This record gives sequence, C-alpha cells and structure tokens, in this order.
Amino acid sequence: MAPETSATPLNILLLGSGGREHALAVSLAASPRCAQLYVAPGNGGTGLVGTNVALDENDGDAVTAFAQEHNVGLVVIGPEAPLVAGVADSVRAAGIPCFGPGAAGAQMEGSKKFSKELMERAGIPTAAYASFTNEADALDYVRKQGAPLVVKADGLAAGKGVIVATELEQAEEAVRECFGGTFGAAGSTVVIEEMLVGPECSLLAFTDGKTVRPMATAQDHKRALEGDKGPNTGGMGVYSPVPIVTDEEHAAMVAVMDNAVAELAAEGIDYRGCLYGGFMLTPQGPKVLEFNARFGDPETQVILPRLENDLVEVMLACAEQRLDSVELSWKPDYAVSVVLTSSGYPGSYEKGKVITGIADAEAMDNVTVYHAGTAVNDEGEIVTAGGRVLDVTALAPTFEEARNRAYEACEKIAFEGKTLRRDIGLRALHGRSAWDA
Ligand code: AMP
Ligand code: GLY
Repeated sequence: MAPETSATPLNILLLGSGGREHALAVSLAASPRCAQLYVAPGNGGTGLVGTNVALDENDGDAVTAFAQEHNVGLVVIGPEAPLVAGVADSVRAAGIPCFGPGAAGAQMEGSKKFSKELMERAGIPTAAYASFTNEADALDYVRKQGAPLVVKADGLAAGKGVIVATELEQAEEAVRECFGGTFGAAGSTVVIEEMLVGPECSLLAFTDGKTVRPMATAQDHKRALEGDKGPNTGGMGVYSPVPIVTDEEHAAMVAVMDNAVAELAAEGIDYRGCLYGGFMLTPQGPKVLEFNARFGDPETQVILPRLENDLVEVMLACAEQRLDSVELSWKPDYAVSVVLTSSGYPGSYEKGKVITGIADAEAMDNVTVYHAGTAVNDEGEIVTAGGRVLDVTALAPTFEEARNRAYEACEKIAFEGKTLRRDIGLRALHGRSAWDA
C-alpha cells in the first residue's frame, strides 16, 4: 500500500468562526493532503488561509449539500452547536468522512445531566451533584447544602452558564437566574454541584470511537479578571503543556478519557472526533468538571502549534476508524496564548474597531496571532467583531520565554477597548504551591 502522505489531496470543509477554527484552519491548510479549504462561516483570519463561505453551520442538510457540490472529502466540525444539532449525522449519512461526533455523542457536552450519568455508570470521578427542573426544589436543596456550591445551566451556554457561588445568596440568585431564563432553554434544567478546589487542566483526545490518543495537556483561564476573579468567560488565555501536572495525575486523566470512550462505545454511541476532558486536580486526584464534544477554545491555539503530525491525516484516521495506526508526537516547546478581548466582555461590548499591529506581532519568531472575533470591513481593514478578538500565541523552549514573548507580541497590537489578563500562566510559573493560597 502506498504511504498515506502520497494520497490524493482532498477538499476540506471546516465549520465555525472562532479562534479555535482559525487555528484548525492554519494546521489543515498546512497539510499536503489539503487541496481546497472552505470555512463556514469563518472569520477575518480563516479567510487568509482558506475560503470563507456563507453557510448555516447548524443546518445539516445545507452543510451536506455544500460538501457534495464541492467534492469535499472531509468535514471538520469546530463548535458544539452543530454537533448537538446532529450535523455530523447528516454528513456521515451521505457517506462523507466527518470529524466530530453525532448528536448522541455530542450530549457529552450538550447535556450536563447526560455526562454526569455516564460518568456515574463508568465510575469516573466527578463532583457530587443533583439536578432539578423546578426552582423551588433547587432552592430547597441549595439551602440544605449551604455554600460554597456550583450552579450550572444544563444545556449549552457558551461557557457562561456556570456560577461558582461562595455565598448562599449567590447560589440562590444563580438558581433564580437559570430558571428565570437568563440562559434560555439551557437553564430549564439546573445542575448543582459540590465545589471542587485545585488547579484546572484540560486533556483533549482524538478518538475514532475505539482508539483514544490523548493530546498534550493545556490550562485555560476561565475568569474574566486577573487573580481568577470576576465572571466565567469562554477563556482568557491558555498554555501547554501544563508543567505542574504529576505523572500520576496525567495517568489518571488518560484513564478517564479511555474509560469515557469505552463507556460511550458500550452504550452504542459511535464517537469520532475530539473528546475534551476538563479536570480539577483535587487533593483526591483529578476529577472531571465537564466533557466537551469538540476542541477547546482557546486550548486548540496552544495544542495544535505543538502537534508534529499532519492534522488532516489524524482527523481522517478518526473519521475512518483507523486511529490505531496513528501515534502522536509533540514539539518539546511550551506554548502560551493570551486572549485580547473587547472591553466589556463577557458582558456587552462594541464591535467594528480597527485592529493594527497584527503583522508586527507575527514578524516575531514563533508568534502566531489567531483571529477569534474579527471581520474585514468595506475598506479591507481587520476590525473587531466579537468579545474574544485575537489569541496571541508564542512558542519557546521554556515556559517563561513563551510567556514573555506572547506578552511582548500583545503590546504590538492595538484596537480601541483592547483588554487582556496580564497573569496568564503566572501561577504555573511559581509552581504547584501557588494554588495552595
Ligand atoms: P464547566 O463549563 O462545567 O467546565 O464550568 C466552567 C468553569 O467553572 C470550570 O472551568 C471551573 O472553573 C468552574 N467550575 C465548574 N464546576 C466546578 C466545580 N464543581 N467546582 C469548582 N469550580 C467549578
Ligand atoms: N476553553 C474552554 C472550552 O473550550 O470549553
């Protein structure tokens, strides 16, 4: 058999429009296996490495029709919403290889209740919890348990449907907010959890439903403000690998990922894509905070630049269930990515601000600026178009150098309202004891 690398290039359709998708697009486009790359709907960055197409990413029929018309040989689904909507099922039903689970597997992310129950059945360590569809019962429970507690809207809420309540009144208010409709239908079921403490660590894995290949570890910073204060966001900055993880903890996280995929398979769910394990490294060992059915954003922006494999090969192997033939290899460098946001995020913010200095930042060695919320205006300028605007990523042989380089690159970029956390990776720099405070 001819080696895979000499196989015919394919047209690829990538769905999504965030920083994660720009990072995916850069890695896909760099592959000799990639002929034409389409991104739907894409952003100001994906248009530089592929062709942005106006297509409803959540409409399985429209996505499948586009893929058929354009002779697409691989569909890659970035965000959770099309996965939960079953777009992968439509694509696969048409015989087109697809990276991303179908609607059944996407419940790992789409329903916290589903993933909690699966974890229970598989014996996967996670926070103790109860789930409610009724406000009065939820409030009763909260008062009985007392603070601290974590209140979560059950469905998708773009990373914002989780309230870590240190006071009882906060927990009560969070319950009222969820049932009051702040998170839409996502809040009609509410999950209430014990609060876990420790450093967080994400472990993503490629899987074809049988074989699991863990990726490098990454650590996101979810809170809006320095010192991990303020509301939860989609993610303010990230690094990889996570230097404070012990070998024992790493092995426990890998075992969880294997166990989760095995349980899905045992329950008849064919999961092909990325499974994201969000862990808290507690004194009792790693416990799962959440599973996501997709790559992390911004984790992808520090994981993919370190991956030495051809991403198209790996994704095709997942889609075609031959991941057992693939071994992953990683650059030894550290990667640090700082998110530049619009002032006001995760609340309301203005859009359309002209961005300058991206080219100056990218002229630095080993710096890549991934676009998250950007667009191109009528004058051809790159402008802000979202809360998370850019992910400024640097690679270097040491963690400290990577961090310094990322912040130096951030200084070169300007737009009105530019906001960033200056403490991304700071605790990890000081070692594990920085979490004891
Ligand atoms: P999730 O979307 O469930 O991962 O929650 C988002 C963020 O909320 C996590 O990354 C944690 O920072 C925090 N969080 C979620 N669940 C818990 C928990 N049980 N204990 C403490 N923090 C939590
Ligand atoms: N960075 C967190 C997430 O992608 O859910």
